[in-house]
Amino acid sequence: MADPASPILLFDSGVGGLTVYDALRDVLPQAPVIYAADLAGLPYGTKTEAQVAARVAGLLGRMTERYQPRLACIACNTASTIALGMVRDVLEIPVVGTVPAIKPAVLASKSGVIGLLGTQATIRQPYVDQLEAEFVAGKTLLRHAAPGLVEEAEKKLRGQAVDRTVLRAALADLAASGNGAAMDAVVLGCTHFPLLKDELQHIATFDLGWSPDVRFLDGAAGIAGRISHLLEGQSFARKGLNRFVVTGPIARAAGLEPALAARGFGPAEAF
Ligand code: DGL
Repeated sequence: MADPASPILLFDSGVGGLTVYDALRDVLPQAPVIYAADLAGLPYGTKTEAQVAARVAGLLGRMTERYQPRLACIACNTASTIALGMVRDVLEIPVVGTVPAIKPAVLASKSGVIGLLGTQATIRQPYVDQLEAEFVAGKTLLRHAAPGLVEEAEKKLRGQAVDRTVLRAALADLAASGNGAAMDAVVLGCTHFPLLKDELQHIATFDLGWSPDVRFLDGAAGIAGRISHLLEGQSFARKGLNRFVVTGPIARAAGLEPALAARGFGPAEAF
């Protein structure tokens, strides 16, 4: 049985994994959490598979040694679709991944045309091909890389204005591919993207004239449920605030203070 003070480690390249954290806090409010943002490696989506795999496996190994978590969650679709298997092989604790919520989107779609927004690296992964083969047979999955949304989400959490033209272009380009006009479910296949969900929904309906019934889906609640299921019966004793650690210069976390405080984190710390 895990030490009650042992944390859950949530890992992402940046602030995107906070969407998973928010969902986790709803189901396990008492659990101690260490959130690790690899700001020195951000963004992952433009890196090669080898670069992402080496970085994620190396960092999670060192972080697990240092923080002794009871469970690690790779709260990043790019890192999970590339390196989940490898990380599971090297860590001795349960590792939960984050993969695009294609299955729930297929269930939610009436038209059978589903959009997927992710990073460049995520949308080309064989893991996504497998999800498509398993759940989208006879239907259509339109994939579009929207790396600009990662930067906009990082800006938003630092209190900076979001560039709506970047969001609009991502949605318009997705809809312009294949039979996009029939699309009625869009998977936000990067943990950063749900941070922009309100803006995306608004732009889709009011700027692009999409039906207000088009659903934007992400996997955060499902991942939180999976973590809570794996930790069922364990006790939790948080001493103080949750911790937010970053790789690289701490100055890159500047501006995040209100977003962190609102979520129950202490000030950013260097890893
Ligand atoms: N949050 C990450 C994801 O879910 C990726 C952002 C990045 O490109 O680093 O894919």
